[in-house]
Amino acid sequence: MNLFDVYPLYDVTPVRAEGCYIWDNKNTKYLDLYGGHGVISIGHTHPAYVSKLEAQLEQIGFYSNSVQNPLQEELAEKLGELSGCNDYDLFLCNSGAEANENALKLASFQTGKKRVISFENSFHGRTSAAVAATDNPNINAPINQQQEVTFLPLNEIEPVQKELAKNDVCAVIIEGIQGVGGLDEGTTVFFQELEELCRKNKVIFIVDEIQSGYGRSGKFFAFQYHNIQPDIITTAKGMANGFPIGGVLISDKFNAKYGMLGTTFGGNHLACAAAISVLEVLKNDDLIDHVSEVSNYFLKEIKGISQIKKVKGKGLMLGLEFDFEVAEIRKKLIFDQHIFTGGASNKKLLRILPPLNVSKDQLDEFITALKEVL
Ligand SMILES: Cc1ncc(COP(=O)(O)O)c(C=O)c1O
Repeated sequence: MNLFDVYPLYDVTPVRAEGCYIWDNKNTKYLDLYGGHGVISIGHTHPAYVSKLEAQLEQIGFYSNSVQNPLQEELAEKLGELSGCNDYDLFLCNSGAEANENALKLASFQTGKKRVISFENSFHGRTSAAVAATDNPNINAPINQQQEVTFLPLNEIEPVQKELAKNDVCAVIIEGIQGVGGLDEGTTVFFQELEELCRKNKVIFIVDEIQSGYGRSGKFFAFQYHNIQPDIITTAKGMANGFPIGGVLISDKFNAKYGMLGTTFGGNHLACAAAISVLEVLKNDDLIDHVSEVSNYFLKEIKGISQIKKVKGKGLMLGLEFDFEVAEIRKKLIFDQHIFTGGASNKKLLRILPPLNVSKDQLDEFITALKEVL
C-alpha cells in the first residue's frame, strides 16, 4: 500500500531526539528550531516525560469516557493552576482542529446561531467548521463551504461591529498570535474591543491558543498579554509534547449536558499522563520565564542582521521577515547547517518555534548559521 501523497517532504529521516536535537538515520545531528511545528514544548524525550508515559503504559493506556478517569481531573486542576484559568471547565479531545470544532459547536448550541466571524490569514484546522473558519480556499472543499463564515481584516473593529449588529453570529474566533498565516496578531485595543463587542451582542468569543498557548509566547496563553477573558480557549500542540491531545477551556456561561460533546480517544490515560507531565516540567523547570529570557536575548542578538526587515511574534513563536522568499535559506539551514526552521504562508517569513527549553548557546548556534547562509 502506498501513502496518500499529500506532504512535500524534506529528505530527512529522524530516528532519535533529545532536548533540542534530532538525529537522522545517517546519524547526522540537527538543531530543532521548529519543534515539529510548535509541538515540542518541554524538549524531545524529556526524562520525566518518558518515565511518566512508560509507567502509565504499564498501568493502563486507555479506557473509554464511560468510566471514571482521575487523570483527567488531575490534568484539569494542574492546567487551571498553571494557566491561571481555574474558572474554566475542560473538555479533552485529540487535536487542534477538533478543539476548534467543539468550540464552534458549543458557540452555536449556546446562541442558536451559525455564522462565524474569523480573520484574514487565519488558520484553525482542517475539519468541517474549523477549516471553514480558516482563510485558505485551497483547503476548503465544497462540503465545507456550506458553513457561514465571514473573514474580516485583523485590527479593524468597525467591520466586526457592523457584522455583529446583524444578529446572526454565534462566534468570533481569533488566534492568540497567528501561526501559519505569518505571526500577525491583534493589538491589545483590538482584543479588548472584540471582547466588549462580543459581550454586548451575546456572541461567543473564542481565542485559538493551539499554537500560541502553553508558554510559547512567554505567558501561558498569548491572550494574557491583553487583559481579556475569552468565553472559550482552545489548545493543543504543546499540550502533551507530541502525544496527540486537544483541550477546550469553557467559561462558566456554558452549561454542560450529557452527550453534548464526546469522543472515543479524547482524555485517555496515556494522553493525560503526557499532558500532566508537560505541566509538571513547565512548572518545575520555570520554562515560561525561561522563554521570555531567551527570547529577549535572541531579539537583541539578531538586531545586527541587516537582511532581517522585521521580527514578528512573541516569546519563542517568532517570524523573521526578509525582503526575499526564504525557501532557499530554509533548505540551506537544513542540509548545510543541519538546523530545522519553519515556513509560513508569507513566503518571506522564517519561523522559529523551538522547544521551550532551548538555550542561549543553541540560539547562538542558529544565529551563526543564519549569518553564514545569508
Ligand atoms: C492556530 C492553529 N489552530 C488550529 C490548528 C490545527 O491543529 P491540528 O493540526 O492539531 O488539527 C493549528 C495547527 O497548525 C494551528 O496552528
